[in-house]
Amino acid sequence: MSDAGPAYVLGSDPHELERLDHQAAAIAPATRLLLRAAGVRPGMRVLDLGTGPGHVALMLAEIVGPSGAVVGVDQAPAALAVARRRADEHGLGNVRFVQADATAWRDDEPFDAVVERLLLFHAADPVAVVRHHAAGLRPDGIVACVDFDIGGARSFPAGPLVTRVAGWLEAAFRHGGADPTIGARLALILRAAGLQDIGGFGVVGYLAPDDPTGPRLVTGVARSLAPVITAAGIASAEDLGLDTLEERIAAELRSTDAVFLPPTVVGAWGRVGPEGLPTAGGLI
Ligand SMILES: C[S@@+](CC[C@H](N)C(=O)[O-])C[C@H]1O[C@@H](n2cnc3c(N)ncnc32)[C@H](O)[C@@H]1O
Repeated sequence: MSDAGPAYVLGSDPHELERLDHQAAAIAPATRLLLRAAGVRPGMRVLDLGTGPGHVALMLAEIVGPSGAVVGVDQAPAALAVARRRADEHGLGNVRFVQADATAWRDDEPFDAVVERLLLFHAADPVAVVRHHAAGLRPDGIVACVDFDIGGARSFPAGPLVTRVAGWLEAAFRHGGADPTIGARLALILRAAGLQDIGGFGVVGYLAPDDPTGPRLVTGVARSLAPVITAAGIASAEDLGLDTLEERIAAELRSTDAVFLPPTVVGAWGRVGPEGLPTAGGLI
């Protein structure tokens, strides 16, 4: 891929695209809440960075309505094919998708808002990415970021399997060049990029012991990261036991009557001033 860092650690095979569907469904309410709080409104022209199969782009198309427009950018052709098909199925004429390096792409026309969900998580230099896109905004345009802080993911009461697997996933993301706790620092990244009026908050689910969502999401991520987990010696294929992992996590939650807290979905936003972005950003 680009010079943004190591190859994207999650890939875009059919399993990963299906995992993104499950994940997107689980975090859609939090995302909608955060995008509205960020100030994404009808009529805006919005850029969606790392759009993948297009869940956020389609949500944005609904928010901005027919008088607005959305451009989704991703490097993965397979994900973009799904995104385009879904936009067609929804009859959305105000969404288009571009295959490009989302860290460096720039449109000819400025945007009112640039949005990213789970792209900065994988960026080698998130401040530079935000700064690049903030410079492509209209005066008073907004940057709205939605990303995970997986540091808070746990079961309560804590169980050994969930604790162990959460540690493996965090280690594998870091080994693959991602920042799995970036949600905690999103507002600082926006400040360092030179944005003003920064705000944000996190949303966390508390899933009942018999809710299958948590075990399925954790196992899906473990499956996508398995090559990294085993190659880096974080855990063996036997330790992971992918074939039975989902059921073992579900059984641990049920047997201890534990609530599952998935990664916190954090939103942070800021705007460029009436004269655009200042030439020097603040410090983290
Ligand atoms: C975890 S997925 C998130 C997809 C979508 N934003 C969502 O929240 O459902 C990250 C996406 O970013 C894309 N991506 C990662 N680095 C990229 C880059 N430098 N340029 C373009 N796309 C990138 C991947 O292909 C993948 O589709």
